[in-house]
Amino acid sequence: MILGGSKQQRFDLIVSFSDDPIGRLQTDGQQKESPMSRIAYILNGPNLNLLGKRQPAIYGHETLADVEADCGRVAQELSLEIKFHQSNAEYQIIDWIHEAREHASGIVINPAAFTHTSVAILDALNTCEFPIIEVHISNVHKREAFRHHSYVSLVASGIIAGFGTQGYQLALHRLARLIDDAKK
Ligand code: DQA
Repeated sequence: MILGGSKQQRFDLIVSFSDDPIGRLQTDGQQKESPMSRIAYILNGPNLNLLGKRQPAIYGHETLADVEADCGRVAQELSLEIKFHQSNAEYQIIDWIHEAREHASGIVINPAAFTHTSVAILDALNTCEFPIIEVHISNVHKREAFRHHSYVSLVASGIIAGFGTQGYQLALHRLARLIDDAKK
């Protein structure tokens, strides 16, 4: 399903990128399946399976299946292969991160509530030597104070928040650029 249409949503916009987004790529040369891999994992945390039904005033009306379809279309344009997953279980997200570190060249992650709580997900992401983009559908900085802190931001190359589900597409564009830059 294509984004947009009649559904009007209001989101504030926050994008931030670090000065050295791919610096971690040059560290201690770990095992990626292939340095030329264009596989991107898109990981989604708890309750995002209810996207479209869950607090639509905050998260919009698109379902996670819609987001996956949008990502698939953008990935094709960018010559990326995507592995799109969602889980309500922290260990499952960690296992997918471990899988990605072996096979992928980047991760887009919306850790949902685990953003604010999970040192374990941060530790898993810290084992990866490729770019990580953190996505939040809502503008977390406009919401409750407990949503203002993110463990994942400590490892993310960039953070996209408040762009609605379009944030995933923007993240894929940025990830493709970082993957290309890493090859130079
Ligand atoms: C979220 C923001 C989190 O604070 C929240 O727990 C979510 C979704 C977002 O996409 O805006 O579940 O990550």
